[in-house]
Amino acid sequence: MKVIGVSGSPRKDGNTEILVREALKPFYEKGWEVTEFFLSRKTIYPCIGCETCMETGACVIKDDDMKFLLSEFEKCDAFIIGSPVYYRNVTAQLKALFDRSFVFRNRKLLAGKLGGAIAVGRGEGGGQSIVLTIIHNFYLSSGVLCVPCEINGLSARADKPGDILKQENRLRQARVLGENIIKYSEMISRG
Ligand SMILES: Cc1cc2nc3c(=O)[nH]c(=O)nc-3n(C[C@H](O)[C@H](O)[C@H](O)COP(=O)(O)O)c2cc1C
Repeated sequence: MKVIGVSGSPRKDGNTEILVREALKPFYEKGWEVTEFFLSRKTIYPCIGCETCMETGACVIKDDDMKFLLSEFEKCDAFIIGSPVYYRNVTAQLKALFDRSFVFRNRKLLAGKLGGAIAVGRGEGGGQSIVLTIIHNFYLSSGVLCVPCEINGLSARADKPGDILKQENRLRQARVLGENIIKYSEMISRG
């Protein structure tokens, strides 16, 4: 079994990366194959809207990290996607990734996989719930089944990089999100 952890933050070792890594821990423990895909270390150009992929099933943009991600997406069983809140939205980097996944839509290659969502903002009610909805909408548009944390996705409040490390309860909830995906996957395998 294979899981991909995506962080939409442009900030290396920031709060989102920490929470995504925490959510991936249960998968390592269960022997899943784990891929970290952190957008602070990758380049994904925005979709140019040519819709060539609707006819050919392939994207015309070839010189970025999307090609690797698309092949990983196709092979995986589950996703954890986290984003900081930027202007009550996901980051531009993560939105570019969502738009470029349009290449999958015709072939419904993500349908039936499992997904968890994480949002981190500095404010109380800073837009975390909007970000969770945006990530869940991406899953629903792609046929991915949304898996809850304790309730809904994981919503966290943090500002400076590493602030989240002081919040053991949020780190625990990230692990719960990972554990829930594993549980749901086992329930589906049992039929
Ligand atoms: C351009 C920008 C826009 C932001 N907009 C919001 C916002 O709308 N609401 C909020 O709560 N925090 C906002 N923040 C704060 C970040 O979400 C917060 O610092 C978060 O911890 C960053 O996550 P990271 O450490 O994973 O990069 C913004 C930060 C930046 C740089």
